[in-house]
Amino acid sequence: MKNKEKSKVLGSARVILRIVKDSANILHWLLLATLLSIGSAYLAMTAPEILGNLTNQIYDLLDANIPIDNSLFNNRIITLAAVYLLSALLNACTKAVMNYSVSSFFTCKIRVKMSEKIARIPVKTVDTTPNGEFISRMTNDVSIMGGSIHDIFGVIINGVIQLVMISIIIFTQEPIMALAVIVFVPISLVLSAILASKSEKHFDNSREQSGKLYSICEENLACFDAVKIFSIEKTQNEKYGKVSKKYADYSAKGYFVSGLVSPIVGMINNLSYVAICIIGAYLVINGRVNVGALVAFIMYTKLFSGPLESIANGMSMIQSTIASARRVYEYLDGEEMDEIEPEGRGDVRGEVDFVDVCFSYVEDKPLIENLNLHINPGEKVAIVGPTGGGKTTIVNILMRFYDSKSGRVLVDGRDITEMSRVDVREMFGMVLQDTMLFSGSVYDNIAYGKEGATRDEVMAAARKAHIDSFIDALPNGYDTEINEDSTNISAGQKQLLTIARAYLSDRPILILDEATSNVDTRTELLIQQTMDELMRGRTAFVIAHRLSTIENADVILVVDNGHIVEQGRHSDLLKKDGLYSRIYNSQYPKG
Ligand SMILES: Nc1ncnc2c1ncn2[C@@H]1O[C@H](COP(=O)(O)OP(=O)(O)OP(=O)(O)O)[C@@H](O)[C@H]1O
Ligand SMILES: [Mg+2]
Repeated sequence: MKNKEKSKVLGSARVILRIVKDSANILHWLLLATLLSIGSAYLAMTAPEILGNLTNQIYDLLDANIPIDNSLFNNRIITLAAVYLLSALLNACTKAVMNYSVSSFFTCKIRVKMSEKIARIPVKTVDTTPNGEFISRMTNDVSIMGGSIHDIFGVIINGVIQLVMISIIIFTQEPIMALAVIVFVPISLVLSAILASKSEKHFDNSREQSGKLYSICEENLACFDAVKIFSIEKTQNEKYGKVSKKYADYSAKGYFVSGLVSPIVGMINNLSYVAICIIGAYLVINGRVNVGALVAFIMYTKLFSGPLESIANGMSMIQSTIASARRVYEYLDGEEMDEIEPEGRGDVRGEVDFVDVCFSYVEDKPLIENLNLHINPGEKVAIVGPTGGGKTTIVNILMRFYDSKSGRVLVDGRDITEMSRVDVREMFGMVLQDTMLFSGSVYDNIAYGKEGATRDEVMAAARKAHIDSFIDALPNGYDTEINEDSTNISAGQKQLLTIARAYLSDRPILILDEATSNVDTRTELLIQQTMDELMRGRTAFVIAHRLSTIENADVILVVDNGHIVEQGRHSDLLKKDGLYSRIYNSQYPKG
């Protein structure tokens, strides 16, 4: 996923635009939050004037001994307290509205989109991308992405509105002093923008490392046993440690650069205070303004620095949230399988043809070349051959996990690439060694085989798969929960469960991986017998490991290096004295 997309990385401006577009459905909430925030800012802005008047009252008392109008003084104090209180309240409401709308309607919507996308990702992408890379994008990155809405709407847009409001007030009050304040704004903003763009690269790198951290965690858990058996905890820990260090380094650099924004903007603001003091003192001495007005003005300047600092900070913080948003969008924009509307598979007899099929996983490294094959409905086809020969690859093409580069695969004379993948997969039942069980109850795991299956159907399928007595003996029978890694039932039982599921799904063509080798002979025989029963009346492809079980196959394909090197029935192939007979004799030495 990474290499290919690096070349078309979305620019920051485009990511921001996309976020704004994607937040269209919460625009009314964002608008409400903005209004509340403006209300809060407006109230806060009335405070300096009240404070200025209070100062003038005290100043008059000190200077000219004019007695204080107590009721006016008290009223002003009460109003000031009320203004601050209400402003804080509105501010809290702004945050609440923002948090609620973003997490409920924005992040959640993107998460659902990401989950739906999984179904459309080509198998190739999944095979070549570490799982952790997907997991980190779907969990961590999407959560951080929500923060970008706060940065864009809550901080930057609100900040700009507040800046404009305060600018108007200060300009109407004292244009010369206002000018001294405004002059520093572009300097702050330009410096912040430069620092923000400098931090962007570090945040991008840190998010990439975070994806790798997830991958290692995922690997450690998925291969928990292997890690223990080979005692590679240390190596794995070192690997994790290294990536973790890189992650920390990049994050630290990013936050260091973006952290510079606040002190720099603060310092520039302080310079503007100095300017105000000089100009203000001059104006007071000349009697152009009174002390109260100067106090109020200094307060406004302080108010002015708030949004300015938050805009500057927002601009730098947004780089870290955008880095995550970019990864989310890269995932959402990733290549998809072309798909047509499913029409329903209809009646399928189970005739299968491979016509001049060529295939390779890697460009310029042909694996399967000119595969030709005709299989009649109901025939049992055994695929044998050395490891890496291409047995699973044939199944991958048949199921349209991968499409052939040239040639055609036909089922009942219909090209499978002209059918929707859903319809193609509806034709096949699969029982693999690598059993596909989900977390959920035993019942659910069988019932996945058929939408809307009744309890009777599920139980009948379990009976046919000879797994019913085992299920009855479980503590909660059919309702026993299978844990996430399905470690609480044995390998043989898992395979029988998937056979039960295949019975229930009642597909016309079967793909079977023979019994797993780590079961006892009795279970193996039981699985074999159950599979034989399941195959009756259906076209079946059997990936065979023990050749004794396929002696009755209608056709045996011997696959080596992507080619069918031999093809025929058991007895004929033995007579040929080729690869098949060599494999057979190595498994069952004569005499
Ligand atoms: N996703 C993939 N990407 C690239 N190469 C692959 C992929 N899957 C398999 N291969 C390669 O294609 C060749 C055929 O693999 P395949 O899985 O079909 O073998 P197989 O006959 O099923 O072997 P086994 O008996 O070990 O299961 C091997 O050389 C393998 O390394
Ligand atoms: Mg294989």
